[in-house]
Amino acid sequence: MLAAGKQWAATGERPYLPRAFSVADSVPGDDGIRLDFLVEAIGPGTERLADLKPGEGLWVTGPLGRPFSPPGELAGGAAGAILVGGGIGVAPFAIWRRRLSQAGIPARVLLGFRDRAHAGGLDLFDCSEVRLASDDGHIGHRGPVTDLLSVLLEGDDASSAAVYACGPPGMLEVVREICAGREVAAQLAMEAPMACGFGACMGCAIPLAGGGYMRLCVEGPVVDADRIETALVPGSGH
Ligand SMILES: Cc1cc2nc3c(=O)[nH]c(=O)nc-3n(C[C@H](O)[C@H](O)[C@H](O)COP(=O)(O)OP(=O)(O)OC[C@H]3O[C@@H](n4cnc5c(N)ncnc54)[C@H](O)[C@@H]3O)c2cc1C
Ligand code: FES
Repeated sequence: MLAAGKQWAATGERPYLPRAFSVADSVPGDDGIRLDFLVEAIGPGTERLADLKPGEGLWVTGPLGRPFSPPGELAGGAAGAILVGGGIGVAPFAIWRRRLSQAGIPARVLLGFRDRAHAGGLDLFDCSEVRLASDDGHIGHRGPVTDLLSVLLEGDDASSAAVYACGPPGMLEVVREICAGREVAAQLAMEAPMACGFGACMGCAIPLAGGGYMRLCVEGPVVDADRIETALVPGSGH
C-alpha cells in the first residue's frame, strides 16, 4: 500500500487512504533494496503518486497478501508456467518470471496492451521471450492476449502448464473460462477496492464459488481460479 508522504489530499480535505500496488521489480543495492512500481494515473491517489518528484517521501506498507504458487503446487503434472499479463497487470510478472527461472521452471510470457499509450512495463521483460498482443495492432498480434493463450493451450499438453494471469476483470474472466474448459490449473491476481490492506476493513471481500467471501488483501490478491465463479467482481478493475 502506497501513499505520498506530503500533499496526500486536496487542501483542507482528509488524507486519501493508501493505494494498493504490485511490486514491479526489486533491485538490491549497497544501502538497501530499491522497489520499482508501475503506476497508471487514473484518479487522485494514483495521480499524486505519478507526480512524485525525486527525494519526496513515500509511505510504504508491505509486503501484504498471498503470492503466486509454483506450478507443481497447483497441479501434480504441471511442470511449466504460462504468464498472461494485460495492461498495468503486467506489473507482478517480472519478479515472478525471474523466480520461476531461478527455480528452473520454464515459463512462457504473454502480454497484451490496449494501445501504445498503455504499454508501460514492457522494458521489465526480455522481449525475445515474450509474445505480445495489442487491441490496436501497434505491436504483436492484433486482438486480445487471451487469443495467444488459446493457441498455446491448443498446441500443448494443456495439463503440463499452470496459468498465471493479472489484468482487467474481462481478461481475467476469459482466462478463467479457457482454463476451466481445459482443466488447466490457474491463479488470477485480482483487484478490489482496498482501504486498509491488512484484513481489518472488509472493503475488499469477494464472493467464493462455494458460498462465503474472501478478503482479497489477506487471502489474495492471488486467487486459485477454481475458487471463484467469475472474475467479473462488482467494483473491481478500472
Ligand atoms: C492488489 C492490487 C494491486 C494493484 N497494483 C497496481 C499497480 O501495480 N499499478 C497500478 O497502477 N495500479 C495498481 N492497482 C490499482 C490501484 O490501486 C488503483 O488504480 C488505485 O487505487 C486508484 O486510486 P485513485 O485515487 O487514483 O483513483 P480512484 O478515484 O480511487 O478511482 C478511480 C476509478 O478507478 C476505480 N478504482 C479505484 N481503485 C480501484 C481498485 N483498487 N480496484 C478497482 N477499481 C478501482 C474507481 O472505482 C474509479 O472508477 C492495484 C490494485 C490492487 C487491489
Ligand atoms: S482492504 Fe481492508 S480488509 Fe482488505
